[in-house]
Amino acid sequence: TVRIGVMTSGGDAQGMNAAVRAIVRTGIHEGAEVFAIREGWQGAIQGGEHIVRLGWSDVSGILSKGGTVIGTARSAEFRTREGQLTAVANLIEKGIDRLIVIGGDGSLTGSRHLCLGWPEYVAELVEAGRITPEQAAQHPRLYIAGLVGSIDNDMVGTDMTIGTDSALHRITEAIDAISSTAESHRRTFIVEVMGRHCGYLALMSAIAGGADYTFLPESPPRPGWEDRMVDVLARGRAAGRRDSILIVAEGAADRDGTPITASRIQDVLRERTGEEARITILGHVQRGGTPSAYDRWMATACGVEAVRQVLDAEPDSEPVLVGVHRDAVHTTGLLSAVEATHRIGDYIASADYDAAVAARGHG
Ligand code: F6P
Repeated sequence: TVRIGVMTSGGDAQGMNAAVRAIVRTGIHEGAEVFAIREGWQGAIQGGEHIVRLGWSDVSGILSKGGTVIGTARSAEFRTREGQLTAVANLIEKGIDRLIVIGGDGSLTGSRHLCLGWPEYVAELVEAGRITPEQAAQHPRLYIAGLVGSIDNDMVGTDMTIGTDSALHRITEAIDAISSTAESHRRTFIVEVMGRHCGYLALMSAIAGGADYTFLPESPPRPGWEDRMVDVLARGRAAGRRDSILIVAEGAADRDGTPITASRIQDVLRERTGEEARITILGHVQRGGTPSAYDRWMATACGVEAVRQVLDAEPDSEPVLVGVHRDAVHTTGLLSAVEATHRIGDYIASADYDAAVAARGHG
């Protein structure tokens, strides 16, 4: 019987459970055995009880739950050669050579690395007597499908990543709540949202929440932004607006790389207007709680396709990334998606913001 492993890795995201459920049930439906690898790549390294077979009813009732019931971790050990070797040995021990990884950029980059290195690792494990030549012959390749689970929406190859829509809903609710207290007191609030180096959550929530001003990593403000910001807020107040809301992405910075933090913006406002703006850092509230309907169906649809991909894979198949494009499930090469994603970081680091926005594709 074919054995499929499924893991969630890196930061959790709402909708990961929907993907796990779809993968387990589609796998069983297709006649495969599905194993959860608990705590992501860290669990693959630890092996033993971290790799457990899941049945149909083991994934009952998880569709609407936030987080990931099979656990996740950010594994430093997986970045080492020994960590990867041990993970390969444990997967082969369990007869798993088809893997679906639900994770962010870091987890998928590591997965791609292990996939490419698999034949070499297998040879080394045989040499060291850690697996038998028969085991090696049975599992000459690793077939991988990646699903992007991350609230950041920072990966090329999919229009949306699992969790982003839920996080956006959570942020929008928070902005609405903040607006009502801000209006009452005629106050200014600076709201910091997550997203690492990606401004998607900040931009979309600024639009959805009707914010006055936003700071994005891909579009650093030109020098003199302090005056322009104060002017925009003043004009809003002059027009009768009682609240001012600024959204700052956690990765926002000046063109010279100096971070634009909520407290820096607060200082600017204090110096120029005398107002003591309030700061709300939304933090992990954005990542927790119930997944939205979109994240549930999207993760389900991608999970079903990921199982098909690993079951239909041929020896010369490339690892794939399963995501969505124009509201339909879309499959692309994991290798090129990872490389294109990393290029965006390089563009931002070299201050080529237009190229970063164009490469992001949802600028
Ligand atoms: O990648 C998801 C994310 O929530 C980012 O938006 C944020 O920068 C980071 O993870 C926080 O990581 P941690 O949960 O390890 O504090």
